[in-house]
Amino acid sequence: MKIFAHRGVSGHFPENTLPAFAAALQTGCHGIELDVFLHCEELVVIHDRQVDRTTNGKGLLDDFTPAKLFALDAGNSQPIPTLWQVLQLCANRLEINIELKGHDTVPALVVLLRRAQAELTLRLDSVLVSSFHHPLLQQLKALLPEIRIGVLIAHYPLDGVQLALQLKAVSLNCDRGFVDTKLVEQAHQAGIELYVYTVNHQRELLTLRDMGVDGVFCNYPAEAQEWLK
Ligand code: G3P
Ligand code: MG
Repeated sequence: MKIFAHRGVSGHFPENTLPAFAAALQTGCHGIELDVFLHCEELVVIHDRQVDRTTNGKGLLDDFTPAKLFALDAGNSQPIPTLWQVLQLCANRLEINIELKGHDTVPALVVLLRRAQAELTLRLDSVLVSSFHHPLLQQLKALLPEIRIGVLIAHYPLDGVQLALQLKAVSLNCDRGFVDTKLVEQAHQAGIELYVYTVNHQRELLTLRDMGVDGVFCNYPAEAQEWLK
């Protein structure tokens, strides 16, 4: 079962910061997950459109100049990282799941991934791009056909697997509340992997493993790997 460090090792470090991703590297987990918004032509790693919950600032991302945004404390005196900084740290060392939060993120992502291929020898097959915004995934796939897509859902659609097939996705990334064995079986029959967020308890993790779930997003990836033993 693949363990993704959800927003990095966010159970022990400030979420979506470089130390949280560096810690994930140390755990030997399968991958990291992070969230990105476009801010002044730069992809920045933060979960919310507002900075209030995760930094010492207040307001919308758009209220900040780049200098002011990167001066914020995202926890333990760490700044909000750029996606480029995370790629510099993690490229080819584990799978990187980039979750697109902003509706305008695709053109910048294509440029950044191309740059990372050239400058960091990033292997695109170590990247998974996911979003709840499915037209964005379609747009990305049209511009970068070799990119691997994960279709995020927070509900149980009439045919989630069809959704994944339509987008030529490799995975369906589901909320824990709605996953059942039928969905796992349907996904596998179609050649789609099933990933589940967010799993922070041993019993739940083992139940999902027994259902055949392929991967989980955890805030405690080191502990999760122990629980699986
Ligand atoms: O990608 C899995 C999970 O991160 C999706 O929800 O709100 O934590 O970004 P959220
Ligand atoms: Mg996310």
